Amino acid sequence: MSTDTVLYKRSYVFSFIIRLCHWLRAFAIFGLVVTGFYIAWPFLVAPDSTNVLEQGWVRFVHEVLGFVLVAVTLIRAYLFFFSRSNIERRSVKDAVSPNSWIKQIKAYFWVGQPPHHGAYGPLQLVVYAGISIAAIFMCVTGLTLYANVYHLGMGGLFWQPAEWVTYAMGGLANVREWHHIVTWAFIVFVLIHVYMVIWTGIRFRNGSADAIMSGFDYHPVHVKDKNKGNDPVQHQTHQTNTDHKGH
Ligand code: HEM
Repeated sequence: MSTDTVLYKRSYVFSFIIRLCHWLRAFAIFGLVVTGFYIAWPFLVAPDSTNVLEQGWVRFVHEVLGFVLVAVTLIRAYLFFFSRSNIERRSVKDAVSPNSWIKQIKAYFWVGQPPHHGAYGPLQLVVYAGISIAAIFMCVTGLTLYANVYHLGMGGLFWQPAEWVTYAMGGLANVREWHHIVTWAFIVFVLIHVYMVIWTGIRFRNGSADAIMSGFDYHPVHVKDKNKGNDPVQHQTHQTNTDHKGH
């Protein structure tokens, strides 16, 4: 039986604003999926009833959360490209390197360590980029639906671009239908995302979800018992990139 002591090296990965955006977005998306499906099928109101107050309140909550998502999507896009820390942007190096993809796929099969120039692995970055594009699509179609109901204020401001989007998508019914269909992308994403967070914590022992809560992640450093902790032996092969997340 091995008697190695495992120490953990702690690295600061995600700033407060990035963590705040993550949880605001998670909260908004959860609420948007629930209220969105209710708007699509308002089962609490009898079909022949004139009382549509429930539907009105649910739509109100949907729109408030929708504007939260619009704001977070804009802030997050800005931070990705222009934040002082380049930890996210560095992941692009892995996403465009075939070598990194091979390393990453091998790591998924328990062979070696994943490549990490930045915060994310190549597949992770591509999936996050995809879901961010889906979020932009939901914001654009959501604002188009909004502008078609509220003609004054902000709705009025969006009227002209909304008209263009409606025309480009072949009518308002299509805008609504695509807004509904793409909702499923978020449901599938969240299921896989949560699974991968747990799997990564087990596979790489890096503290998993800790990075998006406290900001820190952890990398095991093996210390042989006989060294009495004086001579740590690095367990990982990629010592130069200490500030990474392991999936
Ligand atoms: C991940 C984000 C979002 C999800 C999952 C989502 C989901 C949905 C769903 C499922 C519907 C019902 C469509 C139907 O009638 O079949 C809906 C309607 C609607 N959404 Fe969203 N939505 C999101 C973002 C947004 C955003 C950012 C806005 C803009 C503020 C928005 C504004 C609206 C409006 C105004 C409606 C009502 C359409 C109507 O009255 O028929 N949504 N949403």
